[in-house]
Amino acid sequence: MSQYSEEIERRRTFAIISHPDAGKTTLTEKLLLFGGAIHVAGAVKSNKIKKTATSDWMEIEKQRGISVATSVMAFDYSDHKINILDTPGHQDFAEDTFRTLTAVDSVIIVIDIAKGVEAQTRKLMEVCRMRKTPVIVFVNKMDRDGKDPFDLLDEIEEELQIKVRPLSWPIDMGQRFRGVYNIFEQKLNLYTPSKQYVTENVEFKDITSPDLEAYIDPTQAAKLREDIELIEGVYPEFDVNTYLDGDIAPVFFGSALNNFGVKELLDCFIRIAPSPRPIQAVERVVDPNEDNFTGFIFKIHANMDPNHRSCIAFVKICSGRFERNANYKHVRFGKVMRFSSPTAFMAQKKEVVDEAFAGDIVGLPDTGNFKIGDTLTSGEDLHFKGLPSFSPEMFKYIENADPMKAKQLNKGIEQLMDEGVAQLFTNQYNGRKIIGTVGQLQFEVIQYRLLHEYAAHCKWEPISLYKACWIESDNQQALENFKKRKAQYMALDREGRDVYLADSGYVLMMAQQDFPDIKFHFTSEF
Ligand code: G4P
Repeated sequence: MSQYSEEIERRRTFAIISHPDAGKTTLTEKLLLFGGAIHVAGAVKSNKIKKTATSDWMEIEKQRGISVATSVMAFDYSDHKINILDTPGHQDFAEDTFRTLTAVDSVIIVIDIAKGVEAQTRKLMEVCRMRKTPVIVFVNKMDRDGKDPFDLLDEIEEELQIKVRPLSWPIDMGQRFRGVYNIFEQKLNLYTPSKQYVTENVEFKDITSPDLEAYIDPTQAAKLREDIELIEGVYPEFDVNTYLDGDIAPVFFGSALNNFGVKELLDCFIRIAPSPRPIQAVERVVDPNEDNFTGFIFKIHANMDPNHRSCIAFVKICSGRFERNANYKHVRFGKVMRFSSPTAFMAQKKEVVDEAFAGDIVGLPDTGNFKIGDTLTSGEDLHFKGLPSFSPEMFKYIENADPMKAKQLNKGIEQLMDEGVAQLFTNQYNGRKIIGTVGQLQFEVIQYRLLHEYAAHCKWEPISLYKACWIESDNQQALENFKKRKAQYMALDREGRDVYLADSGYVLMMAQQDFPDIKFHFTSEF
């Protein structure tokens, strides 16, 4: 325990994730309404570039501006300090989302009742599983017709590979949707389709009581009794520890658009979701309640104004208290830094703060000192891990299109890579630089930003690659042999680690077979 424990215990730092269009933005907005952080619906601009997969660059610029404002949304609710970390909806920015997930203590997954589990949700859940992040599922759009709720639960268990436990249960759906029975609180929440009003709550401990028919029609009452009986028979009693361990996901049903079931979700969330949790650093486990401040950079956001090449580095505070103007150690540089205008994000407004606690996110204005994964401490040499790069999916050679601006180009590339926009590999055979991304959009982002922020012109040249694998071996000789045999395909990443660039799945498979002493990793952290 520390002098800050009370502050730290009341924090809930989480992200809402979903496949685009499932209702993440709408749900976020309703949560902010409950927190009094906004007062009218429609105030949250969605941070998504989702309508088309192809890029309309100006649209992306606009979105980038919005996404700074909505990067972290903090508000107080019922004695708790809630920090919602926003994640980009567009799949080309999946890497950003992965990194954001390293800074949260829990996650709410939104699933569309009609669409069920979709591709992006599956991918993001993999990251949660890897990190054992506690997950709550919100099944949205119950005002529309969709899948049978039991079938959907089976689908979630199968597709997301996590056990579920419904804590509320829908009474019909679509046009006939009447509300939910809140199993967690034993209340009947009745649905009034309205975007502005909170729903009616009736204490209802015993749904076998004939009083139920006073609220919902007899066929629906009979079905609800039957469903609840089945749930109690099939699913284990809810145990909060199984949720905290990441083994079981509680499930709620509702309609974010109609503000239905959202308050119930939030009320349960603040009760069961974890406060900041201990974090494993390379050297030791860091407990949030330690007095000394520690934190790491999980996101860097470039300034919208091309004339000021400054960024905001987002720090997740892992332990203790962060203070404005205090001396902190930038571990990678081994140098002391002070921050005179750290910002926090309350009620969608960015403001300078004097202090912040474990669980909070602060934004530090930066002019190129930070890169993703950097650690700040009160003095200790600590390194937080868990911010791996994943093998990119797309690769291109990057070339200088203006020989007079080579320096600018190199500087621009370095800084954009520090921000985590994409990954850079240098081919050891021909010395050429290769940029690897998750999606096509990043190439356009890079080209545009190099031009507008660094006055550098780049051009892309095709290269046909399948994956980048980080390789290692206990057998030095085998490693050397491999590197010699694959000389044309060997590259170094920015940390100087060996990376093998496989040009097809088949070639990779053969390499794995032919070189049993070599370990091939698909993430940079192993
Ligand atoms: P996202 O951030 O996950 O991408 O989803 P978003 O909240 O933007 O919601 C996607 C669409 O689904 C929006 O409609 C939104 O109004 C709708 N929606 C969200 N929750 C519900 C719900 O509970 N019921 C129903 N019926 N619809 C819901 P849109 O037409 O794409 O956008 P808009 O023009 O309404 O903003």
